[in-house]
Amino acid sequence: VGAMLLDQLGRPLRDLRISVTDRCNLRCTYCMPAEVFGPEYAFLPRSELLSFEEIERLARAFVSHGVSKLRLTGGEPTLRRDLPELIARLARLGGVEDIALTTNGLLLPRLAPALKAAGLHRVTVSIDSLDPEVFGRMNGLGIHPQKVLDGIEAALQAGLGVKINTVVQRGVNDAGLRELWLALRQNAVVRFIEFMDVGNHNGWNLDSVVPSREVMARLSADGTGAEFQPVNPDYRGEVAARYRAEGSEIGLISSVTAPFCGDCSRARLSAVGMLYTCLFAGTGTDLRGPLRGGATDHELRTLIGGVWGARRDRYSEERGEATQTPRADKVEMSHIGG
Ligand code: GTP
Ligand code: 5AD
Ligand code: SF4
Ligand code: SF4
Repeated sequence: VGAMLLDQLGRPLRDLRISVTDRCNLRCTYCMPAEVFGPEYAFLPRSELLSFEEIERLARAFVSHGVSKLRLTGGEPTLRRDLPELIARLARLGGVEDIALTTNGLLLPRLAPALKAAGLHRVTVSIDSLDPEVFGRMNGLGIHPQKVLDGIEAALQAGLGVKINTVVQRGVNDAGLRELWLALRQNAVVRFIEFMDVGNHNGWNLDSVVPSREVMARLSADGTGAEFQPVNPDYRGEVAARYRAEGSEIGLISSVTAPFCGDCSRARLSAVGMLYTCLFAGTGTDLRGPLRGGATDHELRTLIGGVWGARRDRYSEERGEATQTPRADKVEMSHIGG
C-alpha cells in the first residue's frame, strides 16, 4: 500500500473509468457521427477487447493505488455481452465504494434488474431532448426519446440511482432545456454539459457551446437564473457544479468555460487496455501487452503507478489559456466513453 500516489500536480488517483466496447446503437452527431461511423467502419474485433478476467485484474491494481470509484462506459457499455457478470466481479473487489454506468438507456428495460442484482449502484443516462425531431436528429438514427424514458423508468424500478446527462449545443437543443428538466427532475439529477471538443470528428467550435451561465438562465422560470443557489460538492473534484431551485437540483458541467483540471483524479482504461490520463489525451500506455505477456500483479501495479506519477495533464485549462483551437490527435470518445 505505502505512500499515497500523487501525480506531478499533486492530484490523487481516485476514479477509474473503464470502457468495455467501442460500439454503440446510436450515432450522436457530437460523438459518433454516422458519416464517420458508418456500415464500413471497422469496430474492434472481440479478441482485441480485454476479457472480464483482464479487466478485473487491472481494476484490482488501480484499487491498490487508491481508486474507490469505478464507472463503466463505452461506446455503449450495455452492448457488451454478459455485462452483469463483469459488474459482479468488480463489486467483489474490496475498497470499491461506488460502481456506476454511463449509458444511453435503450437496453435498460431488458438489463436493469440484472445490473442491480450484480451490484451496480447507479446509472447516468444520456438524453439531449424530449422533442422527437430534435432528439432523432441528434442521435443520428431517429430514435424516439420515449425509448430512453422507458430505460430511465426501468432503472428506477430496479432501485438504481439515476442521473441524466444532457449535452447542450447552440441552435440544436438549447430551446428545450427547461422542459426536459421539468419532466425529469422528480426522479433524477439532471446535468447539462457544455459541448466539448472531444475526439476529432464532431466539428466542435466555440460558437456552438452554450456557456453554463446561459443554460442556468434558460432553466429558470423568469429567465434570469437568479433563484439558483449553489450546493456544496459531494466530493473533491466533482465534475458537475450543483445548484438548487424550485426544490430540485441541476448539475452544470462546464469544461469549456470553467475547466476543473485542478482536482482531476480520473484515469481512463480503453476497451483494448490503453490507459489514458486525460479525456483529451493524444497517447496512452498499453496495459494489455504486459498483461498478456505475463506481467505479475506487482509489475502491473508499478507500471500504473509510474504513469500516474508522471502525469501533468490539464487539457481543458490549457485550451482556455491558448487559442481555443482544438488539437487534432485526440483519443476518440467511443474509445474512452467521456
Ligand atoms: P458522477 O460520478 O455522477 O459525478 O459522474 P461524472 O460527472 O464524473 O461522470 P459522467 O460520465 O456522467 O460525465 C459527465 C460529463 O462530464 C461527460 O460529458 C464527460 O465527458 C464529462 N467529464 C467527465 N469527466 C471529465 C473530465 O475529467 N474532464 C472533462 N473535461 N470532462 C469530463
Ligand atoms: N461534449 C460533451 N459531452 C459529450 N458526451 C459525448 N460527447 C460529448 C461532447 N462532444 C457525453 C455523452 C455522455 C457522456 C459520457 O459524455 O452525452 O452523456
Ligand atoms: Fe453512443 Fe453515447 Fe456516443 Fe451517443 S454519446 S453515440 S449514445 S456513446
Ligand atoms: Fe482531467 Fe483532462 Fe478533463 Fe482536465 S481535461 S479535467 S485533466 S480529463
